[in-house]
This record gives sequence, C-alpha cells and structure tokens, in this order.
Amino acid sequence: MLKLSKLATAVVLAASAGTIPAIVHAGEVEVLHYWTSGGEAKSAAELKKIMQGKGHVWKDFAVAGGGGDAAATVLKSRVVSGNPPAAAQIKGPAIQEWAAEGVLANLNAVATAEKWDTLLPKVVADAMKYKGNYVAVPVNVHRVNWVWANPEVLKKAGVAAMPKTYDEFFAAADKIKAAGLIAVAHGGQNWQDFTTFESVVLGVGGAKFYSDALVKLDPKAINSDTMKKSLETFRKIKSYTDPASSGRDWNLTTAMVMQGKAGFQFMGDWAKGEFLAAGKVPGKDFLCAAAPGTANAFTFNIDSFAMFKLKSADAQKAQNDLAVAIMSPAFQETFNLNKGSIPVRLNMDMSKFDDCAKTSAKDFVETAKAGSLVPSIAHSMAVSPAAEGAIKDVVSQFWNDDKITVADAMKKISSAAATK
Ligand code: GAL
Repeated sequence: MLKLSKLATAVVLAASAGTIPAIVHAGEVEVLHYWTSGGEAKSAAELKKIMQGKGHVWKDFAVAGGGGDAAATVLKSRVVSGNPPAAAQIKGPAIQEWAAEGVLANLNAVATAEKWDTLLPKVVADAMKYKGNYVAVPVNVHRVNWVWANPEVLKKAGVAAMPKTYDEFFAAADKIKAAGLIAVAHGGQNWQDFTTFESVVLGVGGAKFYSDALVKLDPKAINSDTMKKSLETFRKIKSYTDPASSGRDWNLTTAMVMQGKAGFQFMGDWAKGEFLAAGKVPGKDFLCAAAPGTANAFTFNIDSFAMFKLKSADAQKAQNDLAVAIMSPAFQETFNLNKGSIPVRLNMDMSKFDDCAKTSAKDFVETAKAGSLVPSIAHSMAVSPAAEGAIKDVVSQFWNDDKITVADAMKKISSAAATK
C-alpha cells in the first residue's frame, strides 16, 4: 500500500487548495517519467514539442531506470514532501492507490469534452478511473510477449525461422551458441527477469493459466505441474545468456541483438523503439515474433499519466492541455511510431505503422474477444505494487541462484503472492 502519512497528505491537500487567479496564462508543466533510453527519449520529446507549441513551459523530470521502479520511489518522496510534479507516469493498480490518497486531479471535464469513453477500449477507460472519475490519461498499448531477433545471427547459425515453440526455441539457441554467439541477450534486473518469466508462463500454460497463477494468484495454479514446467523452462533460458547479463539495462541488452552479438531478446515492444531510433528496419535488420507459444495471446502494458492536484489555474490549464495532447490523433500516431507501441485511441489510421505494430493492433482486438488479452505483472498492470514487488524478487532469486529448487520457488511465489 502507498505509505503517505496523514500529515503528509494534509500538507499536499493544503498545497492543492488556495485561490485561483482570475487570468489564465500558459503554465509550466513538470512531468515525472522514466523514458531515458534512445527510443524512449525520442518519444517523450514529441510530447514536449506539442506542449511547447501550446506555449507551456515543459519541465522534464526524468528518472533513469527501465521499468520505472526508481521513478516510483522518487515520486513518493516528491509527494510526501508536498511538492508533487504536475504529471507523473503512473499506471495500472498504482493509479487506484494514488487516487485513494486524494492527491490526483479529476480529469472528467477534459475526458467528457474529448469523448474519451467513446475513444478508448472499456478495459483501458476503466483502468484510468477511480470511483468512476478519470484520474489518468492513457498514452499507448505496449505488447510484452515478444521475442526480438537479429536475422543475420539466425542465418549465420543456420536457424531458418523464428521459433514458435520452446522445443524450436532451444534448438535454435543451441545452434546460435554453437556458432559462437550469445543465444539470449538478457538484462539481469528483476523487472526484466519477470518480463521473460511471464512470457514463459503464458507460452507454457496459456492465457487462462497465466491469469489463474499470476493475476488471480491462485495457490492451486502456482503449485501446479504447469508452473513446475514453466519454472524449468525459465531456468533453461538462463543457460543461454552471457555472464555479463547481471544488472545490464534493457536498452544495452537490445543493442547486443542490434549489433549481431546475440540472437534473441525477450522484451516488450519498447525494444522496437531502440531499433527504430538506430535507423534499423523491421523485417530486414531485426525480426519480431510472439514469444514461443503466445501467438494467440497478448500481454498488455498501458503507459499512462496521472495529474496531481495543483493550486494555480495556469498549472491546471497546462495539465488539461497535456491530457488533451496525449489523446490527440497526431500525438497518438507520432509518439507510438517512435515508442514501438500502438495507439490506445481507437480507430486510428495504422498505415504508417510497420508490420510488428499492425500485428499488435490486430491481435489486441482479437485477443480481447478471445479472452487471451492479459495484463503484464512485470509492468504493473495486474496486481498490487506490494505483491508485484514480492513476486518479482522471488522469481529473480530463482533465476540467479541455481540452488533454489523449482519446488522452493513455487512455495516462495505462493507466500509472496499473499503480500498486501
Ligand atoms: C515499461 C514502460 C515502457 C518502457 C519500459 C522500459 O514499464 O511501460 O514504456 O519504457 O518500461 O523502461
């Protein structure tokens, strides 16, 4: 649970009351986010451009650290000290926790004027609301269950196609290893470990098992033969990574595939943003494919921004302009073309997007209908921040310590799942 003392909350609320000046001018908008890699920064710059075009002053509060754990820590300290940013990258169940603290601005006026309820899939609109009121604006839809590959490496190793099953995957990985290259580029940080783990669970057990075990945290599913097989498969992937993996940032890991040092990377499609920022061409310089066994499923990760209650009308005007800009068709196209994600706004023209994105857009709709559209745990879409953190730590301990047995890991995941 978010720990905001009563005093701290009182301080924040007092700061957010105050009088509203009669005349509204362009305001300053400080945005806390963690988009600091090549592709991420290029994408964030598009939002800055739009806001400056509206005459606002953009104050970039970027906190490095993929996956956002560092940014979440900094945000808490800013709010507790009564100095919240205008907007912050907050997503999934954390939106509800921040809203329950009474510190988020109500965005209904903008959402109604801009007809967000008709422009967003219901699953997304609902995730942006607290007690029926909009308190966050969605930016995109990232798909997490991807594997990225370097076609030159596959060719050199004699791998004819992207693997669709784990038997094919490990056969390909053996060939890449035999060719003297790194089969799997992996960054050893807990959110990256879990990004790989959740794709394995989805591929080995399917969408229903994934939801039972990792979203509902059902002890029966966690302590099942399917979970045993998932953990064994996950551990086997470790044997194809390089010794320098521990602690490596995700984008430096993507660069290994880009440079032909490694064959595969399990990563969400923000990795595509890195390839594109380096001028690489999908289908020619890099390949995208659903992680083995997950072609008919879609692990979603929706980035969003929540606005904090601020007292001045200028600041509120800037916040409203930010929310309108984020959901605008122009930004939805430009940002997502750079970020590797797809627009969250419905009925967007996808003609400028590449085949990876077009596959994502098609599958997002189809998996929603088929019931195989699932939230990413690794990217804070599914469970409380406390449970997510505890489960991630257990899975990373299992990845890092071969002495932890599969049976131990299942027991530890079960108890971590009970974290409130
Ligand atoms: C995710 C975030 C993405 C991407 C990634 C790496 O949690 O939703 O936008 O940036 O982290 O930092």
